[in-house]
Amino acid sequence: MRISVFGLGYLGATHAVAMAQLGHEVIGVEPDEKKLESLKAGTLPFYEPGLGEALRQELSAGRLNLVSTPGPEVGSCDVHFICVGTPQLTDSEGADLRYVIAAGSELALHLKPDAVVVGKSTIPVGTAETLRTEMTAVAGFDVRLAWNPEFLREGTALEDSLAPDRIVIGAWSEDDAAVVQRVYQPIIDGGVPCLVMDVATAELVKVAANSFLATKISFINAMAEIAEASGADAVRLAEAIGMDERIGSKFLRNGLGFGGGCLPKDIRGFMARARELGVGESIEFLRQVDHVNLRRRDRVVELAKKELGALENKRVLVLGISFKPNSDDLRDSPALDVALRLSSLGAEVRVHDPKALGALGDRHPELLRAQDVSAGLEGCDLVILGTEWEEYREMDPRAAADLISNKVIIDARNVLEVEAWQAAGWKLIALGRNVHK
Ligand code: UDX
Repeated sequence: MRISVFGLGYLGATHAVAMAQLGHEVIGVEPDEKKLESLKAGTLPFYEPGLGEALRQELSAGRLNLVSTPGPEVGSCDVHFICVGTPQLTDSEGADLRYVIAAGSELALHLKPDAVVVGKSTIPVGTAETLRTEMTAVAGFDVRLAWNPEFLREGTALEDSLAPDRIVIGAWSEDDAAVVQRVYQPIIDGGVPCLVMDVATAELVKVAANSFLATKISFINAMAEIAEASGADAVRLAEAIGMDERIGSKFLRNGLGFGGGCLPKDIRGFMARARELGVGESIEFLRQVDHVNLRRRDRVVELAKKELGALENKRVLVLGISFKPNSDDLRDSPALDVALRLSSLGAEVRVHDPKALGALGDRHPELLRAQDVSAGLEGCDLVILGTEWEEYREMDPRAAADLISNKVIIDARNVLEVEAWQAAGWKLIALGRNVHK
């Protein structure tokens, strides 16, 4: 099929490449010239394992073409995906829909009447209806619109797109749903369940799933707070409750909490939308989910103060600044937030990250960039493991101990082997665990 993809950020770039890999002829539209040039040259403007190779492959096979503005070649496509961002508004908790509306309106100028437009961006429930009305007004005919939420995770984006747990299609007509199903036919034939439903439910699925994941993480982080106060161990607790099949062990890792471009803004946007619908109370518990999550950052700052006393001129090394490993995304990153807060309290903060220092660029010059872990460790008063990159999980505690006199580490992600670190002479403080002696 001939497919266009509007917006080539994490979601759109991955989706465009995935569609090309399924054998479709794809045109990606990205108005940001810098991003576009980079992609055209086969270089991703962000870090995502495996995606760069796949991008280069599809560009050179000619299945993927990239443009800055839609023209006749976009207009002649059978299916158009809208993958632009919906960030949190700066003055409220709601989602900023201007990019979705702008992309839809621009697309409507070029659309052929039988083409199907498919939204993938995460939006408040009810937005598709508004978008369809806007697009129909611009196009002058009834625009065929469907909603198809995307569940990909950064770090495994392409894999998640090509082998998702499920495909969800929200449509106003069976014919529209059938067109979207045809796009995914090879994946559906491979056994992935495809759920066709009404548009409002499809819009809700995404925020409901992310809210559930956020709640699960905050639940175990709340247990970590209880564990810290009572002498219990939240990691052993998670192991024990996670073995109950009804609960499950995934997304039950206590630590510095969730961040990134989705979970935090999605729960806030969801609360704002529920209030608009007059059912704010139904998901008011997400407020607590947000608060528990942010309190974990306070806890790490508090622990640092407890260890170091006044923070002025104390040297702290923060290992990892991306919001999670295998990503260089710094949006709402818990580790970066902790680093900045320690720095604002007077500490000399060094940061290290295997991939995200580039994304940090020249922002926050107060954070000193450690080019490698050894250099960062030298002369440090405290180490904080903020993002669980493999490089840190595999660190040799004895070799690290040789580089530092004040051997104290806060494992804010619970990934270090407590006994090995203690045996090497470290005081290891793990969130939600009372392991330090
Ligand atoms: C998330 C959803 O998982 C994905 O389905 C959706 O499409 C986009 O949002 P992503 O933001 O890439 O994906 O990250 P995810 O793997 O969900 O992790 C989110 C955050 O939760 C990270 O900061 C991670 O460190 C944290 N986390 C995750 C925990 O603190 N504990 C856990 O047990 C799991």
